[in-house]
Amino acid sequence: MNLRSGRLKGQMKSEVADFTSSLEFDRRIFRADVLCNRAHTTMLTEQEIIPNDVGKKILKALDELEKEGIEALDLDSAVEDIHMAVENYVTSKIGPDAGFMHTAKSRNDQVTTDLKIALKEEIKEIEKELLLFIHIIIQMAEEHLDTIMVGYTHLQHAQPTTFAHHLLSYAHALKRDYGRLQDVYKRMDLCPLGSAALTTTSFPINRNRTAALLGFSGPMENSIDGVSSRDFIAETVFALTLLGTTLSKISEELIIWSSYEFQMVELGDEFSSTSSIMPQKKNPDVAEIIRAKTALLNGELVTILTIIKSLPQSYNRDLQEVTPHLWNATDTLSSALKITREMLASAEFKGARGEELARANFSAATELADLMVKDAGLPFRTAHKIVGRTVSTALDKGMKAEDIDAQFLDEISQEITGKTLQIDENIVKKALDPVEIIKSRKVIGGPAPDMVKDSIKDLKGFVDKNNSS
Ligand code: ARG
Repeated sequence: MNLRSGRLKGQMKSEVADFTSSLEFDRRIFRADVLCNRAHTTMLTEQEIIPNDVGKKILKALDELEKEGIEALDLDSAVEDIHMAVENYVTSKIGPDAGFMHTAKSRNDQVTTDLKIALKEEIKEIEKELLLFIHIIIQMAEEHLDTIMVGYTHLQHAQPTTFAHHLLSYAHALKRDYGRLQDVYKRMDLCPLGSAALTTTSFPINRNRTAALLGFSGPMENSIDGVSSRDFIAETVFALTLLGTTLSKISEELIIWSSYEFQMVELGDEFSSTSSIMPQKKNPDVAEIIRAKTALLNGELVTILTIIKSLPQSYNRDLQEVTPHLWNATDTLSSALKITREMLASAEFKGARGEELARANFSAATELADLMVKDAGLPFRTAHKIVGRTVSTALDKGMKAEDIDAQFLDEISQEITGKTLQIDENIVKKALDPVEIIKSRKVIGGPAPDMVKDSIKDLKGFVDKNNSS
């Protein structure tokens, strides 16, 4: 069946047909298109809009197509898109009666319905993978509740924490990424089918029925909106872009932490490469590729937003050009997500090195200032000044953090406030000990092992609940 032969005289030049065809990326919606045609035909038959026997024949042909798969279709670019290819297949099986299938339906509502069906499945897969990732992080955190590391701000030593606490910061970021996908899914779960070209139809179609047959929670409420909107694609890609950002940050830290300067992490050999000239090298290439590939999502998001911006309402062919960027984004993200999970799981965290760094460079300074507030009744700003001066004096004298004692603090305090602090030596030593510092941070969200255990419990509940829903 040649769609053009009614209104148009000639065929497109093959170069133009190739340029305008969506067939290549329509492969992704082949299965959804069969489902969509089946639901629509079922409804048309039930509503007695098309003869029962014709409906049956169409459904039988669609069943055969589903069995034979996409290979059974003629995918020449002259066919324009997957919708025409499917219709042509049904025509080849049952003749002109296949034309009844397109009653009260347009490719405009069909394509957006197909995209939603396929994208919903894709989102469910990514959500599953995210839950597995969070589960793996929880397991790793459980092994490292007491493994000390130094936490950084500005990539400078800041305060002691544990690998478990740091790992859970990834888990919580991924949990929010999961929540964003859930929100997007909920909003997109309305069916555009029945919008037809843009103003529905005078046939007595049942949109609730097709929506239910296709697993949507209901029909979209406005038919012009039904064929116009691709915000569901933009916001999915936005959610994936932020998820990609989380992955890129994890990768970045693994790259930095596995350097000789840090030596806090060793990545599995199966996630590393070597150099063609420098035989000693173990390079974190996989993490670098993730860091780079996730940038593609930012680009796809901007491309999609730019295509849909300023389009007049209802269907414009520009919308077709959104689709390849969507699949590019989902494919890149899906592989980056799985590989980041496996790469992180391969990482060995170096507890001794973490502790060495946590003890090395005055990361106890905040606790020391807090101690002066608690034990000597000083305002925090005064304590901050005394400890700041303590550190700079210690550095000038070549002293280490562990060399600071009560007497040294008194000398500095005398210099700044004219008074000594008279804090017990043992308490000073305790305030300088990363183990004690971590233990004392028993605040919600803090690194004290008990708090981290609480957080793990909550996260486990989240994973279990969503795995079973
Ligand atoms: N291939 C088109 C797309 O992906 C769907 C067909 C709508 N075409 C049309 N000429 N109204 O958006």
